[in-house]
Amino acid sequence: MEKITVPGFREQKGKEKLTMLTAYDYTFARIVDSAGIDSILVGDSVGNVCLGYPTTVPVTIDEMIHHTKAVVKGVKRALVVIDMPFMSYHESIEQAKRNGGRMIKESGAEAVKLEGGIRMKDVIKALVDIEIPVMGHIGLTPQSIHRMGSYKVQGKGKEAEGLIRDAKAVEEAGAFAIVLECVPRQLAKEITGMLSIPTIGIGAGPDCDGQVLVLHDLLGLLGEFRPKFVKSYLKGREEIENSIKNYAREVRDGIFPDDTYSFH
Ligand code: KIV
Repeated sequence: MEKITVPGFREQKGKEKLTMLTAYDYTFARIVDSAGIDSILVGDSVGNVCLGYPTTVPVTIDEMIHHTKAVVKGVKRALVVIDMPFMSYHESIEQAKRNGGRMIKESGAEAVKLEGGIRMKDVIKALVDIEIPVMGHIGLTPQSIHRMGSYKVQGKGKEAEGLIRDAKAVEEAGAFAIVLECVPRQLAKEITGMLSIPTIGIGAGPDCDGQVLVLHDLLGLLGEFRPKFVKSYLKGREEIENSIKNYAREVRDGIFPDDTYSFH
């Protein structure tokens, strides 16, 4: 079992599809890692999934570090990437370096991910220059929800040129990989063919170099609403709720604990 490193992840482009999933705690990180996923993203989606925030905007650096430390403890093989939350890299290059450095030092993650294309080129370059590997993220960037107004597909029609420029800027700045979120399939294919770094798609079709999903979406834990690009491999919410109901019923009926679960 060879540890996946940043160079190893990058070199996988064109050889084998890359797999990436989010995780936010020790228990799930262990399961995802032992299932052989190449990279674990401690996404700022932790805000929606674990902390009950309506968007990723309120997530703090301390929250990201707290969750990532737990994930790192559960991982032996996967590359661990930590999301830089909103306003942790937007003020200045100095701020981005200070926060990026702190997040890598304190969390144990091996790379950061941040949202934005051309406008973040200097920030990405500055982080790479101080030895912090960066994964870019363009297309639908959830930290921009208040500008976008809703979570919709990006890069349609005339917007495509802008997205291509963003992708090139992220690569030129020195990112080792880039997430393409909610981008038309054909455009994602074009960008993937144009870049020498791997593209990791989420809602960007099958032609990216790899795929990422939010773990809780894959496990069907989040209830009714499911975006078009999400495939749930388990009816997790239903299964868990039924197990809890069974437990409650057995306790109320005096079935659990029986002799098997008692000390003598
Ligand atoms: O925060 C997150 O989970 C992400 C993925 C959806 C790419 O950024």
